[in-house]
Parts: sequence; C-alpha cells; structure tokens
Amino acid sequence: MIRPIGAPLEIKIEDVCFSYSSVPVLKDIRACLSGNKLVSILGPNGVGKSTLIHCINKILSPTKGVVLLDGANIDEIKLKELAKQIGYVPYSANDSFPLSVVDTVLIGRHPHSKFGSLDHDLGIVYDTLKMLGISNLAMRSFNELSAGQHQKVMLARGLVQEPKVLLLDEPTSNLDVRHQLDVTKMLKHLSREKGILVIMISHDINIAAKYSDEIIMMHEGSIYATGKPCDVITKENLSKVYGVSSEVIMDDGVPHVILKDALPMDDTFNEFYSENNTQAEIT
Ligand SMILES: Nc1ncnc2c1ncn2[C@@H]1O[C@H](COP(=O)(O)OP(=O)(O)OP(=O)(O)O)[C@@H](O)[C@H]1O
Ligand SMILES: [Mg+2]
Repeated sequence: MIRPIGAPLEIKIEDVCFSYSSVPVLKDIRACLSGNKLVSILGPNGVGKSTLIHCINKILSPTKGVVLLDGANIDEIKLKELAKQIGYVPYSANDSFPLSVVDTVLIGRHPHSKFGSLDHDLGIVYDTLKMLGISNLAMRSFNELSAGQHQKVMLARGLVQEPKVLLLDEPTSNLDVRHQLDVTKMLKHLSREKGILVIMISHDINIAAKYSDEIIMMHEGSIYATGKPCDVITKENLSKVYGVSSEVIMDDGVPHVILKDALPMDDTFNEFYSENNTQAEIT
C-alpha cells in the first residue's frame, strides 16, 4: 500500500493475544487506529494496557495475532525503521540516566541521526524543551530532577523522535493538575498540527475524556468498549470495569465523572466490608 506523503499511519491490531509464560494477559485484541487523533487507553491496574503498548512497539511479540503498520507486519520491520515511525514514552517510575537533560533528550534523535546532523538535532532538542517549558533544565543532570520534571524530559525525548505514532504510558502520572491539563492539551494539539496518531495510557478518566478523540476501555485483558468519550465513559461501564459507582454529568458536551464509592468486589471483600461497618457502628 502506498501512503501519501504526510498522511497519518494506520495501526491495525488483529486478534492479538499475549501471555507471560503461560499466564494469558491479552485476549483477542482487535482495533484499527489511524488519523490525527488522540486515543486514550483506560482500564484498571493489571488489565494489560502496558502489555498492549509493548506489543505495538515490538518490545513484546504477541503470542497470537499480528500488529500491522500500514499493512506491514511489524515483526518484519527493522527496529531502527520502526523507531522513525513509532515513538514510545515509557512509564517513568524507574528512569535513570547519568546524563544532562539535553543529552538524555538527544537520545530520541538516534533513529534520524547521521554524520554531521548534530547541530540540526540539537536545534530540535532545544525547540522541544522550550515547547514543554523546561528550557531551564537543559544543563541539569537528569538524575537530580523531580518526578514531574523527569516525566517532561522523557516526553521531550519521545517528541524529538518525530514519529508518526506516539505511544505514551501514563505520561502525566507525576504531574500536578495544571501540568496534566497542559501536557494532555499539547498532545492533542500535536496530533492535529503534526498529523500524529497519539495513543496514551491514562488513569485520569476526566482528563482523557476532555481531550481524547477516542477511548479504548479495557477489561480483563480484552477491549470492553471503544468509541467517543461520551459513548464509552458511562456509569454502567465504570461500574463493570473499575468496580465503582459514579455519576457522569455532561460538561460542555464532554462526560465528567463524579466518583461516589468503590463497589464491593467479591464475597471476601463483602465480609470485610460489612465487618468493618458493623464495628464502626458499635464504636
Ligand atoms: N514481565 C512480566 N512478567 C510476568 N507478568 C507480567 C510482566 N509484566 C506484567 N505482567 C502481568 O501482566 C498483567 C498486565 O500487566 P500490565 O503491566 O500490562 O498492566 P497495566 O494495565 O499496564 O496495569 P497498570 O495500570 O498497573 O500499569 C499483570 O497481571 C502483570 O502482573
Ligand atoms: Mg501499565
């Protein structure tokens, strides 16, 4: 298939299953994502969100099924070639680089770098730091930064890769509310301006609902619901997938979740729950 220059890539996930050793994690995942869009993957802890992203960027190989990039099986695409097309910003908890911020971000230029391109690459690095409002950190040592600053630097590293598809694993988990909004808004803007398909994992349902064009909600290793935020973020889906009761109100056409309570999960939990409630009443 010939893709017009500048056109966004298409990612097709065909019946993907994945198991760690013999423990199944992903079950028959099917999705087709393309366009200048921000897509959020939601779902509870351990449901398989990071595993799915790892299957898309070839960190893991599906046990069954394939991932196609513009019709080509990613298994057959060389890693350096894939890195020009797909950028990845990992979950940032364990990042550690004994490098300055500039050098850490410069690593993201690796797929494009060639002899004599350093000045050009550094220009992109400095422009990106400026866009993220972290130019002041350029010469700081990466390992001395705060968690939120780390996260912005790792985001910069993914952006300088100038990919057609950007995968982000909880890119705002360490950011304060203002920066969560700012970064998510910027990701949406990037998808529009640069024609990138941005796929991010998030635990912040309201921010994902506000900015995403599409939501993929996962449950027990499968896709439970997919579509526009207003179709996916419903109190029924939140109850089934997250085990919470909630109210979902519409705010300017966007669903906004007001969490009410955690629902009892199973009999053990029920016993614990009622025991504790009884004690609370007696005392
Ligand atoms: N390297 C590994 N070896 C064995 N099991 C793993 C490995 N990585 C993840 N798992 C298991 O696979 C399941 C899915 O993990 P995954 O990291 O994809 O979840 P997640 O949806 O990203 O969760 P979270 O929201 O907590 O990040 C979990 O049960 C986890 O314990
Ligand atoms: Mg994860």
